Amino acid sequence: MATYKVRVATGTDFLSGTMDSISLIIVGTQGESHKQLLNHFGRDFATGAVDDYTVQCQQDLGDLIIVRLFKERYSFFPKNPWYCNYVQVCVPNGRIYHFPAYQWMDGYETLSLREATGKTAADDTLPILLEHRKEELRAKQDFYHWRVFVPGLPNYVHIPSYRPPARRNPNRPEWNGYIPGFPILINFKATRFLDLNLRYSFTKTAAFFFRLSPMALGFKLRGLVDSKRSWKKLKDIKKIFPGNKSVVFEYVAEHWAEDSFFGYQYLNGINPGLLCRCTRIPDKFPVTDDMVAPFLGEGTCLQAELEKGNIYLADYRILEGIPAVELNGQKQYHCAPLCLLHFGREGNLLPIAIQLSQTPGPNCPIFLPSDSEWDWLLAKTWVRYAEFYCHEGISHLLETHLIAEAFCLALLRQLPMCHPLYKLLIPHTRYTIQINSIGRAVLLNEGGLSARSMSLGLSGFAEAMVRALSEIKYENLYLPDDFVRRGVQDLPGYYYREDSLAVWDALERYVTEIITYYYPCDAAVEGDLELQSWVQEIFKECLLGRESSGFPTCLRTVPELIRYVTIVIYTCSAKHAAVNTGQLEFTAWMPNFPSSMRNPPIQAKGLTTLETFLDTLPDIKTTCIILLVLWTLSREPDDKRPLGHFPDIHFVEEAPRRSIETLRQRLAQISHNIRQRNKCLPIPYYYLDPMLIENSISI
Ligand SMILES: [Fe+2]
Repeated sequence: MATYKVRVATGTDFLSGTMDSISLIIVGTQGESHKQLLNHFGRDFATGAVDDYTVQCQQDLGDLIIVRLFKERYSFFPKNPWYCNYVQVCVPNGRIYHFPAYQWMDGYETLSLREATGKTAADDTLPILLEHRKEELRAKQDFYHWRVFVPGLPNYVHIPSYRPPARRNPNRPEWNGYIPGFPILINFKATRFLDLNLRYSFTKTAAFFFRLSPMALGFKLRGLVDSKRSWKKLKDIKKIFPGNKSVVFEYVAEHWAEDSFFGYQYLNGINPGLLCRCTRIPDKFPVTDDMVAPFLGEGTCLQAELEKGNIYLADYRILEGIPAVELNGQKQYHCAPLCLLHFGREGNLLPIAIQLSQTPGPNCPIFLPSDSEWDWLLAKTWVRYAEFYCHEGISHLLETHLIAEAFCLALLRQLPMCHPLYKLLIPHTRYTIQINSIGRAVLLNEGGLSARSMSLGLSGFAEAMVRALSEIKYENLYLPDDFVRRGVQDLPGYYYREDSLAVWDALERYVTEIITYYYPCDAAVEGDLELQSWVQEIFKECLLGRESSGFPTCLRTVPELIRYVTIVIYTCSAKHAAVNTGQLEFTAWMPNFPSSMRNPPIQAKGLTTLETFLDTLPDIKTTCIILLVLWTLSREPDDKRPLGHFPDIHFVEEAPRRSIETLRQRLAQISHNIRQRNKCLPIPYYYLDPMLIENSISI
């Protein structure tokens, strides 16, 4: 007789436990156990429980390779789901085998778990294990499918139990939101059919809804969401900001109109990856030395500053020609501006010229800091309006959320749980499909919040993203090279660059350690067909097979794999944090980030007043809607996992466990350095503090 001690851990989130009966079979290289019911006197598999059992076998089972869990009806109790963290088995000689699960068993079903040692297909020699990984992938590929979201954008998850929200029937009264009278805020239908394993935990769901409701109700009670009027005074806008106002918000509300803060936002705002060094003034933006010389300082000229590398350009050409829509019965307007900036002797980046169109002409004056106060402020506000689309649509939604979802879905479909890359990447996919599903239901559906708050409406917003995806280059996703390409590698005061490079370096070293442990040579990379399928699927479903993107269709060497995986992890974590976390602080003061404009771009100087300025900004209703969205999406609901914190134990070998610990130490040092630096800054830059970065995109 051989005695096996079995430990089963149930998840700790509310409602993770089950009343169903759980049985188990242990499979070893020398045979398998009988199916044994795991049953104690009293309650088994309660939320957070770690239950121990004993399994007696007639013979030694050899090295353990698989455990099979069976979930079946218990007595008269109705079926309820169970979240299994892991199974551990201690064999007679004292060795402990770990079987990670970290997934739900929903119905009466069987879950087959492999022992945790990371293995590529080449590492598996036993037919039963090769068959296991094939069967796992077959089942996942049967379950998770790709679906076209918008032609030209990355495809997304389409699973059998999921269906997009049905169109609401206006003739049928129904409860369509949780605040009576307020239009749909969250369409529950969109996400409740998601696979349990993709859904927010109970804790996170509760925190998400709790955050949104009071603010929406407050707006409703004060009559703000029904007001289509212009704001009467600028300072009134501040009153709608919910909750405690942060240091950064207060700073933005006070300094938003200043040129130095306008320039600062290109470096350390929420869209810090757009600015490029300008070495030649483009023909479409005919700025002359006479125009800008007064703003460059004594003893220099435009050409000299260009040659010194002190001139920078923000070009919003990607937004050109997208038609605007009507909001609240009023026509909205749009533009694709150009903004020239100068890095001066005082160490500030300042705007020196703005043109509100890509086509120069008599009706398209070049605005200068010497123009009237309201002309110059409105020109800068048009640039901030363009920033809204480049940030929310391109840098945030497309370049992090949608691309990360494609990384995630390809991972689920192409890599089995025992694969080292699955173990490495799965923490960085947590809840991404869930938050994107909410986004599609609330922000990107017909009649949704985007359609009701943006000059470009839904189709224009999507058009901006489609254009951006068609221009994405793989080489630009390698962060250190991107700063060089944009010519901003030595621009002082660029804290985003300093922090992102520090985090990138820590991630790249971590990835290098893990990859070189599992892939001893280039041939191991090239010969890993599961890995190659994952890469090919991303190329096909995310980049839509566009060869000019430079995205690889296969990886041949260890360095290529390290580069690729670092890009994936960085995109799913720090890159998102940089554009997501500060959303509310930088945008709640609406004039700093307007989502719509109600007058055409100014065509002549000297006509703008405070009144025309306020009449151009979004009306009260639009301001409230966009603030609701940003309020909800800017803060991570509970159930957070900071970068480098991996409570789910997928790796059991000593080397990767050590690498995880080293990563955490490096990230802690970066966090310390950032906090020390921020003590001396008027506006702290903390969006890339590793302690505040999430492992994955989950909001
Ligand atoms: Fe986000």
